Amino acid sequence: MAIIIDGKAVSAAIKQRVAQQAAALQKQNIQPGLAVILVGDDPASQIYVNNKKKACEVCGIRSFSYSLPAQTTQDELLELIGALNQNPDVNGILVQLPVPRHIQPDAVINAIDPLKDVDAFHPVNVGKIMQGTASLLPCTPAGVIELIDSAGIDPAGKDCVVIGRSNIVGKPMAMLMMHRNATVTICHSKTQNLTAKCRQADILISSVGKPHFVTADMIKPGAVVIDVGINRQKDGKLCGDVEFEAVAPIAGAITPVPGGVGPMTIAMLMQNTVTAAKLQNHIAI
Ligand code: GUN
Repeated sequence: MAIIIDGKAVSAAIKQRVAQQAAALQKQNIQPGLAVILVGDDPASQIYVNNKKKACEVCGIRSFSYSLPAQTTQDELLELIGALNQNPDVNGILVQLPVPRHIQPDAVINAIDPLKDVDAFHPVNVGKIMQGTASLLPCTPAGVIELIDSAGIDPAGKDCVVIGRSNIVGKPMAMLMMHRNATVTICHSKTQNLTAKCRQADILISSVGKPHFVTADMIKPGAVVIDVGINRQKDGKLCGDVEFEAVAPIAGAITPVPGGVGPMTIAMLMQNTVTAAKLQNHIAI
C-alpha cells in the first residue's frame, strides 16, 4: 500500500515558514500584500479566492480583493492592473482564471509587472523558468515539487511522465522536474500508447481534469503518483484524475484529492507573495 502524501500537513508547514518570513519583513516596516482580482461570479473561482484570503490572514499578508462584474471590459481590467502595478502596498497581483470570453487572458497576463506576477505566468517569468533562473515559480508545479521533496523522493535519474501540457501546470511542471534531473515525458490528448508510456514512469503526474483518467493498469509498481486534478462529481464531491482506490495499492506513494496538491497551490502563492515583496525591496531571498 502506498504512502499517502499529506498535502494539508505540508502546506501548513510552508504557510508557517511564510508567516515567519512575513514577520521578519514587518520588522523592516514591510507588510507583504497580495491583490486578487476576480471577474464574474464563477462559484468555483469564488471559493478559491476566499481560500486565498484566509491563507493571507494565516501568513500575515495583507490582502486586497477585487470582485468585478462579468461585463467588466478588458480596458477597465487593464487599468486596475496598471494601478496595482504602481501601488507599493501591493507586492503580488493575481487575476483568477478563467476570465470571461471577451477578455484575452494573454493581454491580462502581459499587463502584470513581472516582479508582482505571483502566478509566474508572464512571458518574462516563463522564460526564467525555462532558464532555471526564476525566483517566482508557478504555484501548482512548485507545490508538487515540495510534496515530492517532503516524501524524501529524489527525482534525479528517474523517469517522470507528466500528463497534460497546459501553461499553468503541464509545461512548467515538466521543466521543474527536468531541473531536478528527472527524464521527463510530456503526454497529452494526442499521445499514442499512453498506458505503456505511463507504465514506464517512476513518477507520474496527472493534470488532465478528468475523473478516473488514470487507472491501475497505467501504474508501474512502486511509482510515485501525483494527482493535480480537481474535478467535481455529480454528487458535489471532489475527486482527482486518478482512480485512487485501485491505484493506491500498486503505487509507492500517492497524493489524495482533496488534501494533496490543492492546498499546496495556495501555500506556494503565499510564498511567492513574500518572495515578491523581498524582490521589490531588494532583500535577499
Ligand atoms: N485558475 C486555476 N488555477 C489558477 C492559478 O494557478 N492561477 C490563476 N490566476 N488562476 C487559476
